[in-house]
Parts: sequence; C-alpha cells; structure tokens
Amino acid sequence: MITTRHLKCLYIVSKQMRLLSTTAYTHINVGVKGEKQNIGYIQLNRPKALNALCDGLMHEVSKAMDEFEADSQIGAIVLTGSEKAFAAGADIKEMVDKSFKDCFTTNFLSHWDRVSRSLKPVIAAVNGYALGGGCELALMCDIVYAGDNAKFGQPEILIGTIPGAGGTQRLAKVIGKSRTMEMVLTGQQITAQDAANWGIVSKVFPTDKVVEEAIKLGERISKNSKIINAICKESVNNAYETTLKQGLATEKRLFHSTFATNDRSEGMKAFTEKRAANFKDE
Ligand code: CAA
Repeated sequence: MITTRHLKCLYIVSKQMRLLSTTAYTHINVGVKGEKQNIGYIQLNRPKALNALCDGLMHEVSKAMDEFEADSQIGAIVLTGSEKAFAAGADIKEMVDKSFKDCFTTNFLSHWDRVSRSLKPVIAAVNGYALGGGCELALMCDIVYAGDNAKFGQPEILIGTIPGAGGTQRLAKVIGKSRTMEMVLTGQQITAQDAANWGIVSKVFPTDKVVEEAIKLGERISKNSKIINAICKESVNNAYETTLKQGLATEKRLFHSTFATNDRSEGMKAFTEKRAANFKDE
C-alpha cells in the first residue's frame, strides 16, 4: 500500500532527480554539455532560413528553457546558432501577410521574453548574423560571447518596421542613444569587435572556439550557489529597469536576503576555514 510517507519520499526523490526531456524539437537542438553535464545547451537549427525566428522556434526555446530551469542539476544555459548565423531575425515570411489587427489582438512577440526571465544564467554564443530579433535575443541573455565573424544589427527599418523585441530599449541601455539611433535608423551591421567595444559583447573568440568558451564560462558560474546566482542576476537586471536610488535599495535588500540561505553561511565559513565552499543550492 502506498502511504503518505511513500508519496513524500517519491516527491523528494523526483525533485532531486534529473528531469530528462521527452520533448521532440523541430527547430532547435537541445542537450546538456560540460564535464559534469550541467550546462543546458540550446542550438537554433533552421540552417536554410539562417535560423530565422519563426513562432514555432521561439515556442521551442521557451519549452527548453522551462525544462532546464526545472532540472536541478543545470547551473547555466548556453544559447547558440550556427557558424553562419546566430539568427537573422524574426521570420519575415511568417510576418509578411500579418495585419495590425493580427499583431495587436494576439500580442505578437509577447512570448519572446522567456530567455530574459530565466533564473539561471544564460550565455549567448554568437557566430555569424545576429540581426533584428537575433540581436534582440542575444541582448536578452546575461552574457554575450561572440565569434570574430559575428555581425550584429537591427535592420528592421529596411523592411518598413522597427525592432519589436527590445532593440530600441535593451540596446539603448547598453550602447546609448546615438549609437542605437544610428543602428536602428540605418540598419547597418556592426562587427563583433565593435559590439565588444560598445558593451554588447563581453569577449570575442575565434569562430570555432566561442561555443566551447561559453560552455567553460557556464561551468565556472555553475560552481557557485544556484540560488545566489539567481539573486545576483535579479539585482543586476534591476539596474536596467529602475532608478539608481531604487536599484541600490533593492540591491541592499537582496544582499540581506542572501543571509537567509545556507549557502551564504557555508561560503563565508569555508573562507574562514581556508577550504573550498560546498554549496547545496539552499
Ligand atoms: N526571415 C525569413 N527568412 C530569412 C530571414 C528572415 N529574417 N533571413 C534570411 N532568410 C532566408 C532567406 O529568405 C533565404 O531563404 P531562401 O533560400 O528560401 O530564399 C535564406 O534565409 C538565405 O538568406 P539569403 O539568401 O538572403 O542569404 P544572404 O547570405 O544573401 O544574406 C542576410 C544574409 C543579410 C542575413 C539576409 O538574409 C537578410 O538580410 N535577412 C533578413 C534580416 C532582417 O531583416 N532581419 C530582421 C527581421 S524583422 C525582426 O527581427 C523584427 C523583430 O524585432 C523581432
């Protein structure tokens, strides 16, 4: 007979167990990477369309993000495309016949923000084109690594529209008004090096090394406490959404909140005892 105690045990075991995906993906490849297989890996995979972000692809990215967030072993997520294209933007062929009413009544693109809401650190590994929605998707990630062949741009103006997933907002916060205006009003593409100089990208690597480096970075971040990583992310993201005064006050409270975790206690004890911290993510 199954008792409440059995159910409780089952719950605890299933919480600790790895959630192995049974989802079949069409437009993306999903897996785990890294020595400890603790890095979630999402590769956009519509090569014939330069990874144009069709609706189905963006739903799959959301689904994969949900799965990685629910998997207690995953410490960070790497999002990448191919060597030719991270993503060439929203799928223009899917948009061409849409009316204002279609967009407005379905709140078109509203589900695109899943990556920006991740509690786990997300690293974009960008090679080739990151244009329109592709550039915006990279900007939703926490850290962007680029291959030296990467090209960033917001070319929507050239097809009679404007960026609709953060290209006039996140980009402006990162690179400032004048550079954003120039990019969105001309549709010009910028190089990986310019993107690094302007703060879109944190590091540039040879094309064939960028994914590997992003995974290594994910592994390094995953050694920290997952709960403290999430609190830290929340505080940095807050800097983009509020005033300095409010941001500093929230940071202070979030800092205080780390003192409610065992990992904060373990981290500081480990320092005083001159040993490595053993974080339990609690
Ligand atoms: N949507 C749909 N299909 C796309 C696409 C897109 N955004 N970008 C490329 N493709 C398709 C092309 O139509 C082509 O398909 P076919 O072989 O069936 O014709 C295939 O990918 C290869 O593309 P090209 O032949 O154009 O390749 P290229 O090397 O000559 O040029 C490129 C590459 C400069 C990236 C060019 O494809 C291009 O300009 N793409 C569109 C970029 C763009 O405007 N992006 C913004 C989209 S709007 C948006 O993203 C809104 C938002 O804010 C969310």
